[in-house]
Amino acid sequence: MKTRINKAQKQFEKEINSIEDIKLLEELRIEYLGREGIMTKIFDGIPHLSAEQKKIIGKEANKLKNEINQLFQDKQEQLLSEKKSNVQEKFYKSLPGIKPEIGHLHIITQAIREITEIFKPLGFNKVRYPEVDWEYFAFDSLNMPKDHPARDEWETFFVKAPAGKRGKMIITPHTSSGQVREMLKGALPIRMLNISRCGRREMDIGHIPTFYQFEGLLIDKNITIANLKGTLEYFAKNFFGESRKIRLRPYDFRFTEPSFEIDINCGLCLGAGCKFCRGGWVELGGAGMVHPNVLKAGKVDPKKYSGFAFGWGVERTYMMKSGTKLSDIRDLFKNDFRFLTQF
Ligand code: PHE
Repeated sequence: MKTRINKAQKQFEKEINSIEDIKLLEELRIEYLGREGIMTKIFDGIPHLSAEQKKIIGKEANKLKNEINQLFQDKQEQLLSEKKSNVQEKFYKSLPGIKPEIGHLHIITQAIREITEIFKPLGFNKVRYPEVDWEYFAFDSLNMPKDHPARDEWETFFVKAPAGKRGKMIITPHTSSGQVREMLKGALPIRMLNISRCGRREMDIGHIPTFYQFEGLLIDKNITIANLKGTLEYFAKNFFGESRKIRLRPYDFRFTEPSFEIDINCGLCLGAGCKFCRGGWVELGGAGMVHPNVLKAGKVDPKKYSGFAFGWGVERTYMMKSGTKLSDIRDLFKNDFRFLTQF
């Protein structure tokens, strides 16, 4: 019996020293201390011994069991701490981390925000009116009665829906549809900036069926063309740069009188004339003094009040900004990351 104990001890010491893996260590533990293990078998043999032998062998066996237990614990701790330092070695503190990609606002949203901020100090209040509206607000109330040929210019989409007392339902072809809606709120004076989505049946490098316009409307006492020009000049300088100038060119809209097209001096040649602008000026969009019939439709007395309005395309205006060379307006809506991440 004593030799069995000695043998087990020697055998165990040899085996535990060669173990480098925590799983194998557990297997060894079961081999010695498990229910069917070597130590259990030794203990099982003790009752068959003489009383004197029982004492001696029992003591020896217990001593070995405690020793084995202690060695297991030591080995386990050793293996666990080695594992930890291995993980630390693989963690390179100086290695740069992986940067998550951060998106940004679409350029049209950026442009809308910039435009809004520029008009804010002048007291223009940003509003938004329905993108699907009655034809009354887009045409009739703007001095374009039913069947008036001027309506043709706004290649309008009609919605398949029953007509109401304000005519057919349409996708607003311009933000001017907000003019009379704003006046009907009944609060004067008015300084409105209506930025909204519009729709027209057009598609080429300069046009898309859905686009944005921003519309300014100012109504107060004694408003003149000088106020219109000053406001637009202020916008042009703030949005495009100090070196930019605007000019008013006579035009005709049914809802303004007189009406103008607004040009800005070319950003490339600053008005000298170049291949891009052919003559020094590029067109921005329409404007004019609000027609008395439009004021009347909005329940504003044209004898007491006058005002101006302007309405330009957000995309078109943005494309003209210095340094932004977009050759095709349709790129703005393609969701091509290679294009969008440039801005
Ligand atoms: N609504 C006009 C357009 O879409 C622009 C405009 C607005 C003209 C306000 C005059 C006054 O072309």
